[in-house]
Amino acid sequence: MASMNHHYTELQDSYLFRTIDQKVAEYKEANPDADLLKLGIGDVTLPLPAACIEAMHAAVDEMAVKETFHGYPAEVGAGFFREAVQAYYAKRGVELEPGEIFNSSGAKDDLGDILDIFSRGMNALVLEPAYPAYVDANVISGNNIVHLPSSAADDFAPYPDANVSADIVYICSPNNPTGATYTREKLEAWVAWAQEKQAVIIFDAAYESFIQDETIPHSIYEIEGAKECAIEVCSLSKTAGFTGTRVGYTIVPMELEREGLSLNALWVRNRTTKTNGISYVLARAAAAALSPKGKAQCMENIAVYKQNAQVLMDALDSVGVWYSGGKNAPYVWMQCPGGLTSWEFFDKLLNEEQVIGTPGSGFGKCGEGYFRLTAFNTPEKTAEAAKRLARVCASLQ
Ligand code: MLT
Repeated sequence: MASMNHHYTELQDSYLFRTIDQKVAEYKEANPDADLLKLGIGDVTLPLPAACIEAMHAAVDEMAVKETFHGYPAEVGAGFFREAVQAYYAKRGVELEPGEIFNSSGAKDDLGDILDIFSRGMNALVLEPAYPAYVDANVISGNNIVHLPSSAADDFAPYPDANVSADIVYICSPNNPTGATYTREKLEAWVAWAQEKQAVIIFDAAYESFIQDETIPHSIYEIEGAKECAIEVCSLSKTAGFTGTRVGYTIVPMELEREGLSLNALWVRNRTTKTNGISYVLARAAAAALSPKGKAQCMENIAVYKQNAQVLMDALDSVGVWYSGGKNAPYVWMQCPGGLTSWEFFDKLLNEEQVIGTPGSGFGKCGEGYFRLTAFNTPEKTAEAAKRLARVCASLQ
């Protein structure tokens, strides 16, 4: 008889965004004419930058000709892709070797898959509220979750607690879901903590392109010593609109060693065994997104989402509702008005105004009483959703 991974039974019934989809599907079935406005999952709405489309077309043409056709890619990443990431980091003064850069199908994949190089049953520290995939991937791996709650009092970006030890810690800055950012001082404290505990930081930089306060580091490697204690996981989903196209990258520094083992060597062994990498066409699109021309086009799209975030913040200001985020992140993290729980507010907003958001409690216990809004819808739909949101908030005061 097959022996199963019973850790799956410790998970909540379904993944947060699937639960929301199911609730929305039920609502739609009962109300087929409802004009639903989605500010829930952080899915982009603007098309890919022109530089990416041009690169994809050219790559497709190469695949059509015997002389330029490409078969299996390098599992860890094509040379031109690694060089594009290397040049992107060099602009911020972070020097990477091509061999430290790995391609992926997006941050979500590697945030969980990276657990393969650590032992099972280890302690994973999760700074909450947190992207639910961190917790779920660790539960599936049979790891112990150590929860470190944050709150408005620490700007939802806590310092490490010297009394808490763990094998790994997930840090996401700018943060999903709170939109909070970790200052240089806070990241320095986390690097010092990881060095002292011999832990590894898994730094999720998926939202780095939204940083407008230039004192905030975009990469953990802007902090001295981070190459000896941190892996960085990043994605082009939010930077370049790749939620449907699926490309990300992971950095595992050569200097990073634990128990006499090179984490880079383990990850090379893992990737070359478990994946054949990403397609040539998408790798070309991703390299184009990171080029100066592509990045400028990405930033034009990001400016539209930032304006959407401003519209949501203005709506909350107009009704005196507390929120954080929105400035350096595509997420606005608001307090539920009227003392409602996160799911009560979700239901009220859906049933009364047909607006979909994400309940804060889905990101950890300390998210209870909060609610996340994304800035990724169109300006027109965001403006309409902001109006409806303000109406519901006003009715609760
Ligand atoms: C979110 O809404 O939290 C993200 O879009 C989910 C993801 O990146 O997988």
